[in-house]
Amino acid sequence: MSDAPSASSLAASPGRRAALALAVTVILAAAFVFIVPGDAYLWLKAFHVIAVIAWMATMLYLPRLFVYHAEAPVGSAQAETFKLMESRLLNIIATPSMIIAWALGLWLATSAHYWSAPWFHAKITLVLLLSGLHGYLSASARAFREDRNTKPARHWRIINEVPAVLMIGIVILVIVKPF
Ligand code: HEM
Repeated sequence: MSDAPSASSLAASPGRRAALALAVTVILAAAFVFIVPGDAYLWLKAFHVIAVIAWMATMLYLPRLFVYHAEAPVGSAQAETFKLMESRLLNIIATPSMIIAWALGLWLATSAHYWSAPWFHAKITLVLLLSGLHGYLSASARAFREDRNTKPARHWRIINEVPAVLMIGIVILVIVKPF
């Protein structure tokens, strides 16, 4: 019998991983505020960008996996491998890094008093859309895992472009702060 984890066993612990990611972020933030109070903002911004890169990498890769998964026959070895890859990507990287990006981003916004800045409202709107897409991709991974996907590969090819467009808008807003 194989020791490899199944997609369903990996899917069983996303809540625990999310709680762990949040706990690590809170401890990290508290440590930096305590150890280097003057530089804490820059250190936490660096970790925010690191978390965002990990989150974006998965948001760009997951729909691409769905393109190939949608074309693989149900029950084939290929389809089972895609299920495992999708669960790992979501539960180990995508959801924890999204939580860390959110927690640190909210801390940065509060400590720099950005809540009334129009560029920040626009950025938060695009980030909420990205988070909604994350939810949609999570639900879709569950549908693939249970062999319920009905969307063709073409649908996933189109969805694949959405995170890139949102990311371009978010990065321009936070760096140029045009309004
Ligand atoms: C998840 C919710 C998010 C919140 C609440 C948030 C908030 C923030 C805040 C307040 C800053 C500091 C801005 C400054 O010091 O000028 C920041 C920096 C940054 N954020 Fe986010 N952010 C989030 C997600 C994202 C996402 C999804 C991306 C990219 C796709 C992103 C990219 C960046 C970049 C590149 C910086 C560094 C900007 C600079 O230093 O000039 N953020 N974020």
